[in-house]
Amino acid sequence: MNKINIAIDGPAAAGKSTIAKRVASALDMVYVDTGAMYRAITLAYLEADRPDLNELLSGIHIRLLAENGQRVILNEKDVTDRLRENDVTENVSFVASDPAVRRFLVNLQQQLTEDKGVVMDGRDIGTTVIPDAELKVYMIASVDERAMRRQLDNEARGIESSVEQLKADIAHRDHLDMTRDISPLTKAEDAIEIDTTGQTIEEVTEEILKLAAEKLA
Ligand code: DC
Repeated sequence: MNKINIAIDGPAAAGKSTIAKRVASALDMVYVDTGAMYRAITLAYLEADRPDLNELLSGIHIRLLAENGQRVILNEKDVTDRLRENDVTENVSFVASDPAVRRFLVNLQQQLTEDKGVVMDGRDIGTTVIPDAELKVYMIASVDERAMRRQLDNEARGIESSVEQLKADIAHRDHLDMTRDISPLTKAEDAIEIDTTGQTIEEVTEEILKLAAEKLA
């Protein structure tokens, strides 16, 4: 097989995007961060003062550019850096639980995978977006370790945060993502689970590259 799609799912801050980006770059594949797409709609929702989501969607145009990982263009404006700020993070679970929002984005995401050669990360990629992906990974890590990683990420971005608060936020978001009615976060039956607790980025990347090589052989 010369082209495959790789689906990487798992809870918040399990290392999905860092590793998915590396895997995509090593295999010369396109990286798609679907969480950023839910975040872009959340930003539009907040900027428009919380309108009806169905109406909001009719005026939304999202484009992804494969530059430096992924840049997100919302209605012709690059909003990539804005998407990680607290107001977006605090409201994204609500927006992502809306059926119209999910239909809109799943449709867009499926268009991106038609030609294969995509590494896509999110919560429902292996179960809903690309159920026939050649390789599915379900990535987990302890809440403690995920909070520590987020803290380091935030430091690097100049955002102040406390580990205890991050732990509480991560546990809360896990709960919302796993208990929502539509496409809750679950491991696809045929996904390979990787626990990244105590593993380096390089180790996990290597493990996935090995799995991908088997599929590409
Ligand atoms: O991966 P992230 O933290 O950027 O994701 C932001 C939110 O979007 C997360 O709380 C759950 C939601 N999400 C989703 O419901 N489905 C996806 N495929 C990706 C993200």
